[in-house]
Amino acid sequence: MTTFVQILCKIRSPRLPFPSSLSETKKLRKTPSVPWQCAQFRTCSGAASKSSETPFVPLEGEIDTGHVDFQANFVHNYQLNDQLQEILGIVQAGGGERSLKKHTEVNKKIFVRDRLRLLLDDYDNEFLELSSLAGWDMEYGRIPAASNVCGVGKVRGTWCTVSASDATIKGGTSYPITVNKQLRMQEICQQNSLPAIYIIDSGGAFLPLQSEIFPDKNHGGRVFYNEAVLSAQGISQLAIVCGSCTAGGAYVPTMADEAIIMHKIGTIFLGGPPLVQAATGERVTSEDLGGATLHCRVSGCTDHFAATEEEGFAMGRDSISTLNITPPSDPVGWKEPLYSQDELLGLVSQSGEVKGQMRKILARLVDGSRFHEFKKLYGTTLISGFAFVKGHLVGIVANDGELSHDAAIKGAHFAELCQHRNIPLIFLQSVSEDESWAEGNYELIAETLKARAKMAAVVACMTVPKITVIVGKSYGSSSFAMCSNSFDPRFVFMWPNARVGLHNPEEMATLAAQESGKPEMEEKLREKFQKQSTAVFASSRMWNDGVIAPQDTRNVLSQCLSILSQQACNEPYTYQDRAVLRM
Ligand code: COA
Repeated sequence: MTTFVQILCKIRSPRLPFPSSLSETKKLRKTPSVPWQCAQFRTCSGAASKSSETPFVPLEGEIDTGHVDFQANFVHNYQLNDQLQEILGIVQAGGGERSLKKHTEVNKKIFVRDRLRLLLDDYDNEFLELSSLAGWDMEYGRIPAASNVCGVGKVRGTWCTVSASDATIKGGTSYPITVNKQLRMQEICQQNSLPAIYIIDSGGAFLPLQSEIFPDKNHGGRVFYNEAVLSAQGISQLAIVCGSCTAGGAYVPTMADEAIIMHKIGTIFLGGPPLVQAATGERVTSEDLGGATLHCRVSGCTDHFAATEEEGFAMGRDSISTLNITPPSDPVGWKEPLYSQDELLGLVSQSGEVKGQMRKILARLVDGSRFHEFKKLYGTTLISGFAFVKGHLVGIVANDGELSHDAAIKGAHFAELCQHRNIPLIFLQSVSEDESWAEGNYELIAETLKARAKMAAVVACMTVPKITVIVGKSYGSSSFAMCSNSFDPRFVFMWPNARVGLHNPEEMATLAAQESGKPEMEEKLREKFQKQSTAVFASSRMWNDGVIAPQDTRNVLSQCLSILSQQACNEPYTYQDRAVLRM
C-alpha cells in the first residue's frame, strides 16, 4: 500500500505559506512585559544533555493506507494541493512575461524574487513567505501576491521580516489588500521583535481605489505611523530603495531608521516629474527631482548610495549585521517522525472532519512521533500535551471532536501550563459539530458555553507565542478558544481542505434562505458560502498567513519556532520611547 502513497506523492513542496492586517498598533512598552522573552525555549538538545533517555512516549500512528476512505481522502487532498501549487506558480511569476521583460530589459531592474535572492542568506530554502495568496481573485481583479512579496527570512543568520514591492504588477502600486499585507507584516515585526526590511519599487497608491487606501485609520498612513512606533519600541527598520517611492510611499524610506538607495534606479519624491510640469511648467528628470545623489548628498533622506542593485543589497546585509542581534541557533539531534508526512493527505476527510484521527496526525508532525499527553482520560475530544518539533519544545492542543465542556476546561488548564512554563503553544484546529445540541441537553450547552469562554479568556491573555493551523473546520464560536485569527496567534495557517466561516455553509444557506423568506435562494447561498469558506478565498482576503500543504506543516512550524526563538534568545531591546529621528 505504501506504493499507492509513493506514486501519488510526487507532490511539489509548497514551501510558501501566506494572511490579515495590523489592526491596532499596541501601546509602547516601557519594559518588556512578555516573560518568555527573557529565556530561551527548551530544545531537545538541551534536554538530551541532562539525560540520554528519549523523552515522551511514541504515539500509535499506523494506518491502513489501502482503506477506501484513506484513498479517497488522499486523492481529494492531493488534487487540492496540486491546485494550490498551480496558483502559487502564477503568483510567483508576478505581473507576467511582458511586464517582466519591460522591468528587466527597459527599466534595467532586477525582479523582486531575484532581489530577495541577493538580500537573504537562502531565499530558496529558508524564506517563510507569508500571504502569497493575498489579492488572488479580488472584487477589483487578480493582484498576484498583492503586488508585495512578504515574509520572514534570514540575513547573516538573523530572522528579519521583508516586504518587497513587485513593480511588474501595475508599477508595484498599493491596492487595499497590499496595505493590509504591509500592516500585517508590521504586526508580525512588533509581536516577534523582528527587524524589518522594506524593499521599495512602487508607484504609490493604486489611484482608482484611493478611497479604500488612503483616508481610514488602518489605511496607508498607518504604515508610516507604525514605522515610528516600531522604531520607538526598538525594532530596527531598513529601507532599500530600488525604484519609485512616490507621494505617500516617499515616507517609507524617510521614516525608516536607515535607508539605502540605488543610483539611477531609486527615486523618492512627493510628486513625480509630470506633476511638477503640470504645476510649474518646468521639465525635470526623476533623477534630478529625487534620485540617489540628491538624497544622499543634500536632503539626507537616505544614508547609503549604491552604484548598483547588487551593491545595494550587499549594503543591506551589512546594515543588518550592525543591529547587535544574536541569531538563534537551531536545535540539533532531533528525530524525524516515525510515519510519513505524505500520509497526512489521507487522514482528513473531504468534509474537513478529523475526528478520531488527530493522534495519527500528531504522530506525523512531532519528533520521533513522541508525545507527553496531558489529561488523556478527561475531555477526550481535545488532545493536549507536549512534544518537540525539530528540537523545539512545544505544547499542542488539537481538536479530536467537538469542543465539549470538559475539553474546553482541559484546554484552558493546559494553556495555563504552557504560559507558566514559558512554552509556545500550537493549536491544531478542526472543530466538529456540537453533539450536545443534537441531544437537546440544554444545561450542558449552557455549561459548555461557560467553559469555552474560560478557555477563550485564557488563550486571549497568553503572552507565550501561539501558532494556529486550521486543519479541518473552523466554524463558529468554538474556534475562538482554539485561537482563530482574532485571538492573535503569532502565525496562522490553513490546510487546503480546511474551511472557515460562521457556520458550516450548508446549514448556513438553509438558515439564511428561511430567514429571508426566500427558500429558492438556498442553492445560490450555499454556493456563495461554500466559496467564501475555502482556504484560498480566506487567504486571498488575508484571514490567515497562508495555505500550507499538510505534508509541509512540520517544516513550516519549525521555521516559525526558529523565528520565535530569536526573540527568546535576545535580551529585550532597550526601549527609547521615541523613533529614531532623521535629523
Ligand atoms: N495608480 C494606478 N495605476 C498606476 C499607477 C498608479 N499610481 N502607477 C502606475 N500605474 C499603472 C500604469 O497605468 C500601467 O498600467 P498598464 O500596464 O495597464 O498600462 C502600469 O501601472 C505600469 O506603469 P508604467 O508607467 O507603464 O510602468 P513604468 O515601469 O514605466 O513606471 C511608475 C512605473 C510607478 C514609475 C510610473 O507608472 C509612475 O510614476 N506612476 C505614477 C506614480 C504616481 O504619481 N503615484 C501617485 C500615487 S499617490
